[in-house]
Amino acid sequence: MSTTMTPPSSPSPTSSPAGAVAANPPAPTWSKGLEGIIAAETKMSFIDGAKGILEYVGIPIDDLARNSSFEETVYLLWNGRLPKRAELEAFTQELRGNYELPAGFVDRIQTCPKAAAPMHMLRTMVSSLSMYDANPDANDIPTARKKALAILGQTPAIIAAFDRHRRGLPFVAPRKDLSFAANFLYMLNGKEPTEAVTRAFDVCMILHADHGLNNSTFTARVIISTLSDMYSAITGAIGSLRGPLHGGANEEVMEMLNEIEQLAKSQNKAPMDIIEPFIMDRLARRNEGARIMGFGHRVYKTIDPRATFLKTFSKQIATDTGNLKLYEMSSRIEDIMKREVGAKGIYPNVDFYSATTYHSIGLKLDLFTPMFAMSRISGWAGHVLEQLDGNRLFRPTTKYVGPHDAPYVPMDKR
Ligand code: CMC
Repeated sequence: MSTTMTPPSSPSPTSSPAGAVAANPPAPTWSKGLEGIIAAETKMSFIDGAKGILEYVGIPIDDLARNSSFEETVYLLWNGRLPKRAELEAFTQELRGNYELPAGFVDRIQTCPKAAAPMHMLRTMVSSLSMYDANPDANDIPTARKKALAILGQTPAIIAAFDRHRRGLPFVAPRKDLSFAANFLYMLNGKEPTEAVTRAFDVCMILHADHGLNNSTFTARVIISTLSDMYSAITGAIGSLRGPLHGGANEEVMEMLNEIEQLAKSQNKAPMDIIEPFIMDRLARRNEGARIMGFGHRVYKTIDPRATFLKTFSKQIATDTGNLKLYEMSSRIEDIMKREVGAKGIYPNVDFYSATTYHSIGLKLDLFTPMFAMSRISGWAGHVLEQLDGNRLFRPTTKYVGPHDAPYVPMDKR
């Protein structure tokens, strides 16, 4: 809820030495968590949280998920329109030209502790890329755009190289004849993925590409608004995304499903039989901060349209792979949540069914959030480019709630 605060002392117009009158600054408003505050303009994605609509440049997300590719979606987000055939071909080739890591970079990844969390590794390595760029600070739009494409193209190799390193496997070099999605899975597993798996993964990349002024995108825009640099903005955004209230929730969903399975095993019961008491217990502890991960959203008060798509999708993959257990558990959780808190506007968000989808594709749990990051770099970079075009420094204010005119008490009297 936004509230307008009266400034402590109403500032009167101040006269500059030259006699010009400075305008009053706008009256500050306060909204905890910045809820309902418009802080930037964008042409990339539109969200109607009440109706459950998400569009990229006006195109419903469902149409893109069904018909587009990740490469085409990135072109759309960065150019404000769908590409013609030749334009998409040129853009795809440019992206593939960036698959390779700088010389010596794989060695750098292989010095990372094998026990490191992939998101910490990713944040550190994306930041390190700046040191291999002869001109990391250039912020003119054409150069910033090249940096965006380079970071987007190189991130799959960073994640795959690290995962193989921790498994004691050699690095697999990228293949420029493969799409973004297929190349990543190829570098990760050392073999080409099937068409069905590639398509599933490509769709996940499309669905995660952009989403208004979410926390990590805001972080990226805040950082670039100081005219810092593309690497710093993307690095900061990765740090934001990993939190469990944001992109880290997809890993938490999987951990919750694992926890239910373990608990059922310890009680000699089927997981489906303990879901109801498990969820009811968590809901009962809501005031202590307990959450059902993958549910709720600051903007959506109905089902997140990405979750609707991923639900159908994860059911399809689960059916194809003959492993419907996790899908059925998720579906049961959704039913209970709808019954208990649907009226409060708490519905599945993108992370809920993406967890089971990634699991069905064969990805390890701690790679789920890096997958989100790998796609969202396109959104972050697009917002950085929008911010640079007509930038104004982000500098909100605080509502001071501490004391005034406090005495400075000498050390021996405290
Ligand atoms: N489980 C149980 N209760 C919930 C949940 C949940 N997942 N989400 C919200 N609530 C309740 C909350 O307890 C509160 O109830 P009350 O009014 O009785 O105090 C009410 O709903 C409002 O919650 P809030 O925390 O004030 O809402 P918010 O807008 O600040 O938070 C959220 C949004 C996403 C952080 C929150 O819904 C949440 O913690 N969800 C679980 C984590 C999650 O799935 N995050 C992924 C978000 S979507 C993908 C992304 O952007 O990364």
